[in-house]
Amino acid sequence: MKPFTIWFTGISGSGKSTLSKRVYLEIKCRGLKAELLDGDIIRTNFSQELGFTKRDRDINVKRIGFLSWLLNKHGIISVVAAIAPYEETRNLNRLLIPNYIEVFCNCPVEIAEKRDPKGLYARARRGEIPNFTGISDPYEPPKSPEIVVYTAKETIEESFNRIIEYLVNQKLIPNKIKQKIVPEELEKEERILREYLKNLGFARKGW
Ligand SMILES: Nc1ncnc2c1ncn2[C@@H]1O[C@H](COP(=O)(O)OP(=O)(O)OP(=O)(O)O)[C@@H](O)[C@H]1O
Ligand SMILES: [Mg+2]
Repeated sequence: MKPFTIWFTGISGSGKSTLSKRVYLEIKCRGLKAELLDGDIIRTNFSQELGFTKRDRDINVKRIGFLSWLLNKHGIISVVAAIAPYEETRNLNRLLIPNYIEVFCNCPVEIAEKRDPKGLYARARRGEIPNFTGISDPYEPPKSPEIVVYTAKETIEESFNRIIEYLVNQKLIPNKIKQKIVPEELEKEERILREYLKNLGFARKGW
């Protein structure tokens, strides 16, 4: 099977982390090697110096694109959850990466703002976060994504199933589970890694 990059794009609260985590776990259950690159973790450990201007956002998105390209080159699937608000920059990654799958997490700002899982919208409305996507910074919806999930209308399960169906149909993942991995197992593994990084002074507090 050929390695690929599956990139979840969408505004804050649109469901990128929720769905990418599920898809990542499922890919591993189907016996393939994968890495999960969540925007939050990348910004903490890989792009600490970058802010949220267009220039910095573009550098961040291109860095994740390059990292995904490297992973794919060595046969590892890359699962990315990062806003990536600009069409032109997303398309640069599309050009770079041989098998690039874009999942547009389509969710109206009003709904994402009601969810506000990290309290960011409230802070943005209070003027505490400048350049906040969807409020004071643009989000350009993808013109031709491979998959669109309507996360304000579908359940997590429905969105997840449609993504997996697409990947199976494209022969990117096998249609059968090889081993069962419970999410807790993955979370434990991540906690150990985080602790290890923190002790070495690599990860900032809060990750
Ligand atoms: N179909 C769906 N797909 C994904 N998430 C959904 C769906 N329906 C409801 N939700 C809920 O929407 C919220 C999405 O939050 P999540 O942290 O995944 O967003 P995000 O896009 O990663 O935001 P951020 O850019 O701030 O990291 C979760 O609370 C999730 O339970
Ligand atoms: Mg997230």
